[in-house]
Amino acid sequence: MCGIFGYIGTKDSLQVCLNGLQLLEYRGYDSTGIAGVENGQIAYCKEAGKLHVLQQKLPFQKLDVAIGHTRWATHGKVSSNNAHPHLDEKCDIALVHNGIIENYDVLRSDLQMHGVRFVSETDSEVIVQLIAHHYKGELVEAVQKVLPLLKGHFAIAVIHKDFPDRIVAAARECPLAIGYDDAGTEAVISSDPNAFLSSTPNVLFLRKDEVALIQKGKISLFNSQNLPLCKQPERLEGHHTPPSKGGFAHYMLKEIFEQSATVQKAIFGRMDEKEVLFEALPETFRNAKRVWFIGCGTSAHAGMIGSLFLEDIAQIPSHTEIASEARFRIVPEETLVIAISQSGETADTIAAVREFKSRGLKVLGICNVKNSTLTRETDGCIFLKAGPEMSVCSTKAFTSQIAVLYLLAKFFARQSAEEIKTIPAQIQEVLKLAPLIQQIAKKYSHFRNFFFMGRHYMYPTCLEAALKLKEISYVNANGYPAGELKHGPIALIDTHFPVVAFCANKQTEEKILSNLQEVKARGAPIIALAPKELSAVSAVADDVIWLPSTSDKLAPFTSTVAGQLLAYYIALSLGCDIDQPRNLAKSVTVE
Ligand code: F6R
Repeated sequence: MCGIFGYIGTKDSLQVCLNGLQLLEYRGYDSTGIAGVENGQIAYCKEAGKLHVLQQKLPFQKLDVAIGHTRWATHGKVSSNNAHPHLDEKCDIALVHNGIIENYDVLRSDLQMHGVRFVSETDSEVIVQLIAHHYKGELVEAVQKVLPLLKGHFAIAVIHKDFPDRIVAAARECPLAIGYDDAGTEAVISSDPNAFLSSTPNVLFLRKDEVALIQKGKISLFNSQNLPLCKQPERLEGHHTPPSKGGFAHYMLKEIFEQSATVQKAIFGRMDEKEVLFEALPETFRNAKRVWFIGCGTSAHAGMIGSLFLEDIAQIPSHTEIASEARFRIVPEETLVIAISQSGETADTIAAVREFKSRGLKVLGICNVKNSTLTRETDGCIFLKAGPEMSVCSTKAFTSQIAVLYLLAKFFARQSAEEIKTIPAQIQEVLKLAPLIQQIAKKYSHFRNFFFMGRHYMYPTCLEAALKLKEISYVNANGYPAGELKHGPIALIDTHFPVVAFCANKQTEEKILSNLQEVKARGAPIIALAPKELSAVSAVADDVIWLPSTSDKLAPFTSTVAGQLLAYYIALSLGCDIDQPRNLAKSVTVE
């Protein structure tokens, strides 16, 4: 995973690079580092921890050219030694890397036999040592010689102490964008073009072993056969407004509270009283015989709800598969694949998209981030319009995803979707329950294990709520279909094992009430999330979060918001790092 950034131009390279890294921290924050050329030598600094730690330790104020890195650890523990940039033995060359080198062990042993000494545990260091091994005065040539030796995927940026006027970059499967301005005074490289768009709108994306020699005002490209390559830049629009918590204690809380507005934005302008209208959605997609959703984590949970919408509303058979498992499955012809990703950069999802496209299937993306890899690789894309999601834990993207999926099912069914307009107001009602939910959260925050259960629409909803709790509070929370508990997991239940029951699915009301009795009989403390009219729940639950009444199909919105608040306040009671939980990154860019 990780984010890489580089700058060469008339501005302060060091500062531009640090600003770029700040915007790429969503790709990992285990360690950060920066390197450049200073008085004909490589100058570098790297530290375990987030960017602010690096900023406090910087031993230099100016660099001629700069490359930087923010890491999510794959090979080797979190330490300053394993942080990027990595240098060759002579400290002539510095490299930053995003991706994984699968054959690094063999390459490392070969180099060690030639007497090369390694100082880190990473797969990345092998690339810079190999480049140094092949270097004969031409950095581009050395990089070109090394690429065919590497198995795996990568985006790299490399500098040499003798060339303070250039960066060499290369990529295979990992995103790498090169931006430059119209006046030719500066050039930028980044894992994500959104980190530089406002100043450098001309963008080239490197693909399949392409190599770029980047100089101020001049970009030279070479293809995988090392032949010069001519590519037209894309003209991308975008600007970055500095993120703000808007008075909230955490981005997560701010994003939870934005959901009434973000769901409104997801549906706005996409329907009239007769039907749903999607911009840029090929009409042929409506002929799909079946739909497969792919995604990871929260986006996969949205897909599970989308599958129910499609079957219940449009009678189109539908299935959701975790993206990393999707390639092992047979997907029948005439299936429309729908890839859901907030970031549009999740490596497992992108790999599955590439796999299904290579099998001749059409792929539609549902994405929040413009100009992301997913938006470039799919046959059409629906945007969530939720605005940047800063908290690692996804909240507003999920409710926007299910809003779009509800509309999509109505689009396939050629029906109107007027009833979804009630949702923003209902979300407001749930948000008013925040103080009550905080009290309940405090009461339960000492428990280390939870079951979350629900049926039908409430099953994926409870999976999503359980994921929120585990990722931000480090508490073990397992989501189950309520009917499944008695097939094994109920053995774990005792008075120390609370159950959070999602009861807002009218069709299965009686059954979930029975399931509550079953766990109650075994001593489980129970928190129920139930619609106002389900009064019977108060006889069995210890605490109830009463939700506005709605249809089964729309109940995931209100129940999700309540589940997010519960997770948030438990994590708050436990004093966790809510916006940047340990071991996670906002965008998971390795498979
Ligand atoms: C959970 C969470 C993750 C992401 C998953 C996919 O709160 O954020 O589970 O949903 O990593 O990310 P995207 O949607 O960007 O593909």
